Amino acid sequence: MQKPAQPMPANVRELMIRHLPARSHIVLEAAGRLADEMGVPVFVVGGIVRDLLLGVSTFDLDLVVEGNGIDFARAFARDTGGQVSVHDRFGTATVTLEEGPRIDIATARKESYAQPAALPLVVPASIQDDLLRRDFTINALAVRLNAQRFGEMVDACNGQGDLAAQRIRILHSRSFLDDPTRIFRAIRFEQRLGFRMDRPTLACLRDAIATGVIGHLSAHRLSEELKRMFAERHPGRAIARMGELGVLRTIHPKLAWSEKLEGMLKRVGHAVAWHERSLPKHKLEVWLLYVMALLEGLPPKPVADILKRLALSKQEAEAIRAGHAHARTVLRRLAKRPAPKPSDVYRALAGFPRETVVFLLASAKSESVKRLIQAYATTYRQVKPSLTGASLKSLGLKPGPQFKKILGRLLDARLNGDVNSDMEERELARKLARV
Ligand code: CTP
Repeated sequence: MQKPAQPMPANVRELMIRHLPARSHIVLEAAGRLADEMGVPVFVVGGIVRDLLLGVSTFDLDLVVEGNGIDFARAFARDTGGQVSVHDRFGTATVTLEEGPRIDIATARKESYAQPAALPLVVPASIQDDLLRRDFTINALAVRLNAQRFGEMVDACNGQGDLAAQRIRILHSRSFLDDPTRIFRAIRFEQRLGFRMDRPTLACLRDAIATGVIGHLSAHRLSEELKRMFAERHPGRAIARMGELGVLRTIHPKLAWSEKLEGMLKRVGHAVAWHERSLPKHKLEVWLLYVMALLEGLPPKPVADILKRLALSKQEAEAIRAGHAHARTVLRRLAKRPAPKPSDVYRALAGFPRETVVFLLASAKSESVKRLIQAYATTYRQVKPSLTGASLKSLGLKPGPQFKKILGRLLDARLNGDVNSDMEERELARKLARV
């Protein structure tokens, strides 16, 4: 659990020096100087301020300008030699610096929602208004950057008090209806920070869920929220909370919390941790594994419906489907006695995306099968015969369909330790060509 710095300061200049990476601090001071030149108030806002007060270091920055954010972003990019990309419709821009933080810059604005779950209509406003349109009090915080007032806190709704009380609190009762992604965000922040929603917030969240508003979320926004949730440190806890609050069944009626799911989520957590320890250079799309865990044991129709609801890419859906469709057969194959040879393990697992292999590891109950899958992921997967089609040709062998067969046999021999050098491989290739 995170502990906020106490007592809550009205000026956070010192905290900024202590907790922000030096580069971010320099960028913020430069933004303050430019704001003075342009005669506009500028603030760093949102999650960065929350994290700063919690003593957590963050890298990317969100700035809000009481004035024209896009003009400010262009001038800032010019000053700092950064690249600017402008999103006109939202009055926002992103400045990217070489080896520096990514800086999102927005015009301070008010938002109104034409209908629940739609994207908001936007009008320029003050920083106070800008904070009042936000999700939770702990995120409705800003720090002024203009040189004279650098580090001054703007706390629209006692966000500092809620940080101290470890409370997630919405700013108005329609918050979850206006933007149902906040349902997922509330659960995510609860688990990440070890905070709890206060009672009125929880009541509004339950009411919003009961209206079916999650059903209005576009596939893209829903899957983005789930991705963010499942990329956190404790996705299992967030899934449990979604089950408890009835969020899972609003995604699909067949999704529900169960002891079986709880066990699966724990095993996925262990398998991911093993992968991070053993193969730190190979990054996994961890969130995919949690989707696989949610879908485990469901019949093909709901699986297809859920994949459609989440509008995943073809590749992502394929990784999930592969785990779902083949887990049982592959695990049975690996559990056979006598124990399969390395080449059999390779043939059983080759071609599956890395995430699917880690999911199979999580699904395996027997220690011996787990060891085989681990050996595949760390070793067998990388094994290749040293000879290629071209080297077979240079040995005087005639190209043709038997090349593929020979290369396959060479790979098996390498995997099983039947050949251990290039010379032995060449001998075996000649022998195979003669047969
Ligand atoms: N925000 C909001 N409602 C949302 C999404 C975002 O009010 N549905 C506001 C919050 O003030 C939030 C800020 O926009 O702090 C930035 O959003 P985002 O980058 O998504 O969140 P962070 O709070 O920075 O969270 P994280 O630490 O996960 O990046």
